[in-house]
Amino acid sequence: MSTNTVDNTRKVTTRRLTEMKQRGEKISMLTSYDYSMAKIVDAAGIDVILVGDSASNVMVGNTTTLPITLDQMIYHAKSVMNGVSRALVVVDMPFGSYQGNSKEALASAIRIMKESQAEAVKIEGGAEIRESIERILCAGIPVMGHLGLTPQSINKFGTYNVRARKEEEANKLIEDAHILEDLGCFALVLEKIPAELAERVAKELTIPVIGIGAGGGVDGQVLVIHDMLGINQGFSPRFLRRYADLATIMTEGVQHYISDVKSGDFPSEAESY
Ligand code: KIV
Repeated sequence: MSTNTVDNTRKVTTRRLTEMKQRGEKISMLTSYDYSMAKIVDAAGIDVILVGDSASNVMVGNTTTLPITLDQMIYHAKSVMNGVSRALVVVDMPFGSYQGNSKEALASAIRIMKESQAEAVKIEGGAEIRESIERILCAGIPVMGHLGLTPQSINKFGTYNVRARKEEEANKLIEDAHILEDLGCFALVLEKIPAELAERVAKELTIPVIGIGAGGGVDGQVLVIHDMLGINQGFSPRFLRRYADLATIMTEGVQHYISDVKSGDFPSEAESY
C-alpha cells in the first residue's frame, strides 16, 4: 500500500492523526454516546469518535453541558468502547471534574481511562488549566485541547455566539493554542471562531486542529451526530450541515407501527409462534 492510500481497517491512534495532518488528509470526527450508534459510526469509517459532554444535551435533554457527571460520562464511554474497533475514542472531561486542582483532574482522567478503556480525554481551556493538562499527560494519558467557544463556560460568556472576533481574544486563543501544543496535547478542537483565525492556528501548529464552526482551513471537522443526522431538530446553527432527516424517518416508522398495532395487522401469523 502506498503511503498516500487511506487504510480504512487500521486502528486510528494519536500518532496516525499527526501523520494524517502531515500528508494533508482531513480528519473526520463525530460524537457517539452509546454502543449501537458507535458501532455504526465506527464501521462507516470515522477516524475519531468523541464521547462528548454534549450527551448532556442530546441524550438527557439538559440545556447545557454542565449537569453531566463523571460517572455518567464513564457510562457513555464504556458503552461506546464496546462498539468500536477502529476509531480513536476520546472522552470529554465533564464540568467539575478538573477545574478544582490538577490532582483532581488527574484522578478524573484516570477514572475515565481505567473504567471505560477509552484512549484519550478532551478538556476545555488554555493557560488556566495548564497544570492539570501537564499532570494528565505525565500519567501517559493523551489530551485533546478545546478552545474558542467552550460550552462548559456558557454562564461566563452568556451566549453561544462566535468567539474570538476581537483582536484581544483572538491573540489569547493563538497563545493558548501554542501552550497546548507545547504542553504535549495531541490535537486541538476549535469551536465557533472565525475561519481565518482557525486556519492561522492550524497552519502555525504541528498537531491536528479539528474544527466545529471554524471553517474549512483546519485539519478536520467534528459534529454532534444527533445534529448532523437530523435526530435533534431544534438546533440549526449556520455551521451545521444535515446529512439525514432521521427524526422524520423515525416518526414515520413509529406511526406505521402504531397504526399496525391498532389495526391488528401486527403481528401476522408469520410473526407469531
Ligand atoms: O461535547 C461535544 O460534543 C463537543 C463537540 C461539540 C466538539 O465538545
